[in-house]
Amino acid sequence: GITRHYKFDIVSRNVTRLCHTRSIVTVNGKFPGPRIVAREGDRLLIKVVNHIQSNISIHWHGIRQLQSGWADGPGYITQCPIQSGQTYVYNYTIVGQRGTLLWHAHFSWLRSSVYGPIIIRPKHGIPYPFAKPYKEIPIIFGEWFNVDPEAIIRQALQTGAGPNVSDSYTINGLPGPLYNCSAKDTFKLKVKAGKTYLLRIINAALNDELFFSIANHTLTVVEVDAVYAKPFETHTILITPGQTTNVLLKTKPYFPNATFLMAARPYATGQGTFDNSTVAGILEYEQISSNFTHSTTSIKKIPLFKPTLPALNDTSYAANFTNKLRSLASAQYPANVPQSVDKHFFFTVGLGTNPCPKKQTCQGPTNVTKFTASINNISFSTLPTTALLQAHYFGKSKGVYTTDFPSNPIIPFNYTGTPPNNTGIINGTRVVTLPFNASVELVLQDTNILGAESHPLHLHGFNFFIVGLGFGNYDPNNDPPKFNLVDPTERNTVGVPSGGWVAIRFLADNPGVWLMHCHYEAHLSWGLRMAWVVFDGKLPNQKLLPPPADLPKC
Ligand code: C2O
Repeated sequence: GITRHYKFDIVSRNVTRLCHTRSIVTVNGKFPGPRIVAREGDRLLIKVVNHIQSNISIHWHGIRQLQSGWADGPGYITQCPIQSGQTYVYNYTIVGQRGTLLWHAHFSWLRSSVYGPIIIRPKHGIPYPFAKPYKEIPIIFGEWFNVDPEAIIRQALQTGAGPNVSDSYTINGLPGPLYNCSAKDTFKLKVKAGKTYLLRIINAALNDELFFSIANHTLTVVEVDAVYAKPFETHTILITPGQTTNVLLKTKPYFPNATFLMAARPYATGQGTFDNSTVAGILEYEQISSNFTHSTTSIKKIPLFKPTLPALNDTSYAANFTNKLRSLASAQYPANVPQSVDKHFFFTVGLGTNPCPKKQTCQGPTNVTKFTASINNISFSTLPTTALLQAHYFGKSKGVYTTDFPSNPIIPFNYTGTPPNNTGIINGTRVVTLPFNASVELVLQDTNILGAESHPLHLHGFNFFIVGLGFGNYDPNNDPPKFNLVDPTERNTVGVPSGGWVAIRFLADNPGVWLMHCHYEAHLSWGLRMAWVVFDGKLPNQKLLPPPADLPKC
């Protein structure tokens, strides 16, 4: 591989959408931010210079960061944030990964405007495991807020209420023609007939899983989270925040002048956390050449075709789609699923109430005073004042974190309880420690406390295999025999199904401190996060490298 240099200047810029102009935080004045393009095996040196007032840090979502945890990016987890006026060079090598990922700010809600694609091509001379596409197009979903999202979350955390939702979703920064005052801000994809396009689809939205479809066209899924998948055809994909999905789009053999809508809107089962607005772009077939017909004016404009998307709460569509995903699991791209397990964990994930006051029974939604989110009844809502990774590396964890994160919920969870009886939540910064190369199985169970809602759980530093998925209570006796240990999907973000569970496995082969959290920004702010500490192995290539000299200080 080669070394590639990028410079990210964090600057504010006025941007207008939906007839509202707002100063937003950007990278190099671009919204969405610039593309990182590299090849597998390349080293990236990305110099981030913070010109704004606020702190910031950047996360390279899905990059494994083998031995290079200092470059992972979440603020106060692997680094202190980059303060105003300061610079930090993210330095990492892309090992064993190719496909589409994303980068985004990992501090407060700044990722609402600070995000962009990461495109990793295979090594020179290595083809895709599918026919070479005619063109490759990134499609990145985001959200537009007419008011400052930083103010929205600040206020929500003060009042304990849910934060206001955004004013629109966006495709490549553009809300599209279905919103008021937005027709001119529409993403247009001009295509030729009879060609295959590779769409690199990224969900960088803050708070919603999205269904996406293109009218009258079929999409062939070939990769998720930078891992090749067994190809399958679908009209609609489901993509959670933090996930990426590469699809092949075959254009029709002959369709001059036709236009088709592509559209996305939420899959959401929770209460009050969604809106059902639709972002749209246009797929436009090229005009027929004028020496083919006599005059272009004689061509009738073919009407715009519109896609039909599943209903907002169509959980069976969502589950069906997820069940179709499989790793390619070929000789060249094997699925290295851990076949045995060293450490089992069962984590409940969900929303609940504020820390349960003593002498009170915190049961059910009626006692809710303040939204809080937790894993195994532990809410990590207050960030430490130094980065966890530094505390770990320098052996100074005292007062920063404790190693007693429970491997099972503190209050036993029963999905069929009415209402489920585990809303009591304790605040804390607790981690799970793992020896190097431990094989981990983790069951994530949605608690359905304040209405069943899916949670896109993202693990930093690893890919994991989704070996099982189901609804209701996870059954430790009857579910494991049905696990797929042959060709399960490998990815870095999984939607824990609304009212259900997923089982994942990963090998703890990356020393460092790795955040795991819900990729809904609201739930993250409410504390739906925890961290794994993986110790060094014995060999030199099993150790976390020392921190770089320019690592920001708190
Ligand atoms: Cu894409 Cu911790 O995040």
